[in-house]
Parts: sequence; C-alpha cells; structure tokens
Amino acid sequence: MEQLQNLEFEKQLKKKTEQVNEIVMRYLPEEEGFPKLLLEAMNYSMRAGGKRIRPLLMQETYRMFGGKSDVVEPFMAAIEMIHTHSLIHDDLPAIDNDEYRRGRKTNHAVYGEAMGVLSGDALLNYAYETALKAFDCIGSKRVPAALKILAHKTGAYGMLGGQSVDVMNEKHCRTQIDRTMLDYIYENKTSALIESAMMVGAVLAGAEEQQVRKVEQAAKLTGLAFQIQDDILDATGTTEELGKPAGSDAKNEKTTYVTLFGTEGAKCEVDAYTRKAMKLMDELPGEHAFLDRLLLWLASRKK
Ligand code: IPE
Ligand code: IPE
Ligand code: MG
Ligand code: MG
Ligand code: MG
Repeated sequence: MEQLQNLEFEKQLKKKTEQVNEIVMRYLPEEEGFPKLLLEAMNYSMRAGGKRIRPLLMQETYRMFGGKSDVVEPFMAAIEMIHTHSLIHDDLPAIDNDEYRRGRKTNHAVYGEAMGVLSGDALLNYAYETALKAFDCIGSKRVPAALKILAHKTGAYGMLGGQSVDVMNEKHCRTQIDRTMLDYIYENKTSALIESAMMVGAVLAGAEEQQVRKVEQAAKLTGLAFQIQDDILDATGTTEELGKPAGSDAKNEKTTYVTLFGTEGAKCEVDAYTRKAMKLMDELPGEHAFLDRLLLWLASRKK
C-alpha cells in the first residue's frame, strides 16, 4: 500500500516538475546579438535541469491558498533564475571551486571565470526583469508585496548574507563555527529562498498576514532540513548520483551538520525539522496533501 502511494507520488512529482520546467523555459532569453555568449551561458545553466523545487513549492503554495491566475508564473521562473545564479557563483573558484553541476561541467568550467561571474549577475538581474512581467497578469495588485519578499530574501539579509558567512566557513579562515553560526548560514543561504518561494505563492494568492508568517516558519524549517540533507548527500552520495561533486564540503574543510553530529545525528535533525514543518502545515487551510508529501520526500531525497 505504502509502496503504491510512493509510486503514485513520484508519478505526480514527475508530471508537475515537467510542467514547472515548461513554464521556466518559456521565460529564458533569446541568445542573440553581441552579448550572445553571455545569454548562452545563462541558458546553459538554466537548461541543465535541477529539481525545480523552489518554483514547485511556490506553485503548490499558491494553489493551496486558492490562487488560480497565471500571475505566479513569472515569479516561478524568477526564483529558479535567482537559484541558478546562486549555483553558478557558488561553484566559482573563489567560492566552492567545483567542476560539476546538474550533471554537466559548471558554468565557469565551460565559459571561463569572467563569463561565470557575468552570467550569474545577469541571471539575477533577469530574474527581476522576469518577475516584473507579473504586472501584466490578472491579479497583479499583489505583485509589489511579492516583489518585496523576493528581493529581501535574496539579498544581504537573506541568501547572499548566508553565502557571505559560509565563505568564512573554510579551511583558510579558521573561524570556529558552532551550531548557532551554522544555523545562521543555513537559514540564509538555503532557507531564505525556500521561504521566499512559499511566501510569494501565499501572498499572490491573497493569504492573510498570519498565514504568511506560518508559511515562512514552515519554509524555514524545510530549508534547514534541505541543507542538512545536502550535507549528508555530500558525505555519502556519489558524483554520478548527485550530478555535482560528492565530497565538496570535505575538500573545502567545511563545518557541516555531518561534521558536528555525524551522519546519523544529522539524519535525526533532518527528520526533526521536517516533522516540525509538517506540524505547521497542519495548521494551514486548503488542500495541501501533495505539498506535505513533497516536504517528506525532500527529507529523504537521494539527489
Ligand atoms: C542546491 O540546491 C543548493 C542548496 C541549497 C543545497 P538544489 O539541490 O535544489 O539544486 P538543483 O536545483 O536541484 O540543482
Ligand atoms: C549552497 O550551498 C547554497 C547556495 C548556492 C545558495 P552548497 O555549497 O552546499 O550547495 P551545493 O552542495 O554546492 O549545491
Ligand atoms: Mg557553497
Ligand atoms: Mg557548493
Ligand atoms: Mg552542498
């Protein structure tokens, strides 16, 4: 029975991911003119695939609060562009210095470091150019509030803040990283974009302030579980399975939940954060069986 439910969920997940991907692809820039190489490099990383978790979470949260228009679509593409920008820069020699991503050579390994920096920047900017297209859709009165969340959670008080502190979490810096500091890093480098994805979905659908706060909390916990699972996979997975180099954290001598608590301890934390997130989801209205199942799946994913 459980096996059957798992199969049914995975079938649904595959179908929904394909639909999300179709939406994201529609917003990619044309590769033309003098900056053709830049546009090609942006699309190279966008087209490499990936789980498309953030736009999927956004869409599911939008639906859960009764959203029915296409106003969410430019935001779905935008958040995947912001995420892909973060990956291109995360892989640069100055940051994690990794050669594989999403099953292919990293952006800088193919196009060179200068183009890696520029195409990452360009994708971040193009994300906002894309999100602004939501003003042309039905239901656009909620777009300014959604843009405010997207911009805030991406920047110095969100994802980029987290990445900046993560840079200190490296062999050269010798900063002593304890759990409080590591949680700051994870809540920002990873949770912030997941919060943004789910909050934007909720806000665009007209959720009440208190509900949006609850969504933010659930997303924060989901993000923590997601990053700890990423640590576990980095230590236990293979490069083939992951589509990115296994052992990248060890190579860079990063402190992670695995180095602090061991694989088993880290796994307990993933489960605990996921349970807390699910409990908050229980307190929210609307149909969210698939979304709940998705949060569980994220906690046990293999890539
Ligand atoms: C990788 O994110 C970066 C982290 C926050 C751990 P994903 O695991 O969502 O990467 P893709 O999009 O599937 O490639
Ligand atoms: C990166 O964390 C998070 C962001 C890119 C914002 P990691 O460095 O652990 O991500 P991976 O393992 O390279 O995907
Ligand atoms: Mg990193
Ligand atoms: Mg990395
Ligand atoms: Mg990692």
